[in-house]
Amino acid sequence: MSVVIVVGAQWGDEGKGKVVDLFTERADVVVRYGGGANAGHTLVIDGQKLVTHLVPSGVCHPGKSCVLGDGMVIDPHTLLEELAQCQARGLLAQGELLIGLGAHVILPYHKLVDGLREDHGAKRGQAIGTTRRGIGPAYADKASRIGIRVQDVLDPKILRQKIEVALAEKNLWLERIYETDGFDLETVWSQYAGLAERLAPYVGDASLLVDEALRAGKDVLFEGAQATLLDLDHGTYPFVTSSNPIASGAATGMGIGPTRIDRVLGVSKAYVTRVGEGPFPSEIRGADQDRLRELGGEYGTVTGRERRCGWLDLVALRYAVRVNGMTSLALTKLDVLSDFEELPVCVRYRLRDGSETEHFPAHQSDFHHAEPVWETLAGWHEPLDNASTLDELPEAAHRYVEFVSKALDVPIELVGVGAARERVLV
Ligand code: IMP
Repeated sequence: MSVVIVVGAQWGDEGKGKVVDLFTERADVVVRYGGGANAGHTLVIDGQKLVTHLVPSGVCHPGKSCVLGDGMVIDPHTLLEELAQCQARGLLAQGELLIGLGAHVILPYHKLVDGLREDHGAKRGQAIGTTRRGIGPAYADKASRIGIRVQDVLDPKILRQKIEVALAEKNLWLERIYETDGFDLETVWSQYAGLAERLAPYVGDASLLVDEALRAGKDVLFEGAQATLLDLDHGTYPFVTSSNPIASGAATGMGIGPTRIDRVLGVSKAYVTRVGEGPFPSEIRGADQDRLRELGGEYGTVTGRERRCGWLDLVALRYAVRVNGMTSLALTKLDVLSDFEELPVCVRYRLRDGSETEHFPAHQSDFHHAEPVWETLAGWHEPLDNASTLDELPEAAHRYVEFVSKALDVPIELVGVGAARERVLV
């Protein structure tokens, strides 16, 4: 029995899908514990692309149980669409997907408010740059205790009552604050009540399923979505998502105790990307930003937006090691750095008072004004295609990996050296 959490160590899009895919081969149960359709991974199955936002990547391996934990906010329409796509490819037979009864549901007003808030924020230069999938408003309703849960969808009477309570507030907001039309109770209710029959076979007690799997000696893999610096409590607030993607969020989101967790594998790119707004000390200024974006194909899976690109930030990564209790690290996309003459790495931040620190600033203003202190490592010019072990990497690439491991005092367990599934050095 083992419990492994794979968690994003930066601002998301670190290539977790590929790492999860490797670990899934050994897992019996693959779990998502937070977030919703703001995540996205592209899976290639028998040469055909499958993009999923909710279903864990474990779906590619028939016979595994995929679980969506109570900590998630689920758009049932998106989920049913993904389910249909998977089943058309012979994946996710009934019994291989379980949706937690306690997971919250995204309703149309969550998405509308998310979008309107972003539009209004943009006019004042205060947008977060969300995915507009309704994530923040759905978690806000959860905390305000007016959210709708998956179990409510199964009971038309309760569902109607709860939507009525929520709409009484939402419609006032929409009309008075955003000067737009509210929602009609009957329409929303019938749209969601109509899903009950299709969802019912997949809904159940997610915490119990995972507990029983562990008691039976099975291996459980927690697939983190989003990432450390997007964590609501420990990320770069307010430019964060509204859930807890960090490793401890797995225990809360799934309803298992932290004592059950054996390993936390962080995933970081060999550089950094960020979508959306917010400070980014190691962001590259100048032409290398575009060059890195092109080389790394750094465009969002969910929104298609250009990702901002930066050199590796060891201050932020050290913080990720700390808040996740990371036991090892996977460094992805090292091959993208091939062909740069020199590779700057941010080793410390210079603060406004001129002092330097290797610890991530707890105060937002310190972080906003932090300037990177660089150490420049040598680049390499040969592609990494021929390396099948770490020792076969070009010397400079090997040194880069060692430098990171030593600076963070964490073992590097995997190194991604190419787009193909098998291009991961262990
Ligand atoms: P939200 O999660 O849609 O509310 O977006 C909040 C912030 O998190 C925005 O900056 C998004 O770009 C970012 N974000 C949310 N999910 C992901 C993800 O899966 N990868 C990268 N960034 C994400």
